[in-house]
Amino acid sequence: MVNHSEDLPVDSIVVGDSLTVLQRIPDRSVNLVLTSPPYYQQRDYGVDGAIGNEDSLDEYVERLLSVFAECVRILTEDGHIVFNLGDKYMDGSLLLVPWRFATAVLKSQPVRLINTITWVKMNPTPRQFRRRLVSATEPFFDFVKSDEYYYNLDAYMALHGLLRKRAKNGGRLGTRYLSLIERSDLSEEQKAQARRELEQVIDEVRRGEIAGFRMKIRGIHAPAFGGQSGGRAIQMERKGFTIIRIRGEHIKRDVIECPVETIKGVGHPAIFPEFVVAQLILLLSPPDGVVLDPFVGSGTTTAVARKLGRHYIGIDINPTYVEYSRQRTEDVETLLDYVL
Ligand SMILES: C[S@@+](CC[C@H](N)C(=O)[O-])C[C@H]1O[C@@H](n2cnc3c(N)ncnc32)[C@H](O)[C@@H]1O
Repeated sequence: MVNHSEDLPVDSIVVGDSLTVLQRIPDRSVNLVLTSPPYYQQRDYGVDGAIGNEDSLDEYVERLLSVFAECVRILTEDGHIVFNLGDKYMDGSLLLVPWRFATAVLKSQPVRLINTITWVKMNPTPRQFRRRLVSATEPFFDFVKSDEYYYNLDAYMALHGLLRKRAKNGGRLGTRYLSLIERSDLSEEQKAQARRELEQVIDEVRRGEIAGFRMKIRGIHAPAFGGQSGGRAIQMERKGFTIIRIRGEHIKRDVIECPVETIKGVGHPAIFPEFVVAQLILLLSPPDGVVLDPFVGSGTTTAVARKLGRHYIGIDINPTYVEYSRQRTEDVETLLDYVL
């Protein structure tokens, strides 16, 4: 690992404009850049210099390209740069923002695009459009610098195997939820039902029918939201809990199915799902590697990287998010059970 001591130290999360801060990182010292920049004209992050509200799409793409070019410089020869972007409707038409960005990257940067991994949101924001369908996918573009890129399919697939093994061995899977059920304000009857359903879902993981799950308990977790929100919110209200099943990939397809997440007490509007981040870190970075997120937001990338034994660097222009990211990364115990 390169010594960053005279530059930006590894295992740090800093406030600043990503383009400026990236300049403090030495060449070829980061193994994986994994990030989700602000989407085009979606929200105001409330800080001067924030990316996202440029007057034109071209300007927005140009700004992202400058950041991308710095990412290429600091990337090891066997590294990956993964950018996740969302699209935008304007005057009733999709702008194809992610693909315009990816095309601009391929035209101007010395990288190849080896996959567009599609995140399928199992609980997209529930809307009733009468003349179009609800969008429930987002691309993660996986760019590399050379043919010699690091790739650990075994670790990626092992995430599922390990979850099953842990369940089989009567391991820790779900233990945290058991104690949360006890601590909750659910009635004794509701607690008993919650324990029963928890056992059932652990069995499903054990049998390999699902890759993992999340449980949300009333008063402990943020209220459920998303496509099945009506149903889930009602379950949380009436039963006191809801269980979200994660259907993992047993084949090496370029698809990751996972729910959108909210985290209690986090005011960040656009959080990466920890499961997706864990999969990509395992697949694309070596165990002692450095993972960087130049738009770290609520700290999902840095927290999961630390949990998985990687070094990390996070950058965000908003000091409140940076403070939160530091806490979340420090306190990795709060990460979901399905992150190892
Ligand atoms: C889509 S969010 C990232 C969310 C993150 N993936 C997570 O899991 O929470 C984009 C972030 O970029 C930050 N941002 C916007 N402009 C920036 C800039 N010029 N430099 C650094 N960060 C910036 C925003 O404050 C916001 O937190």
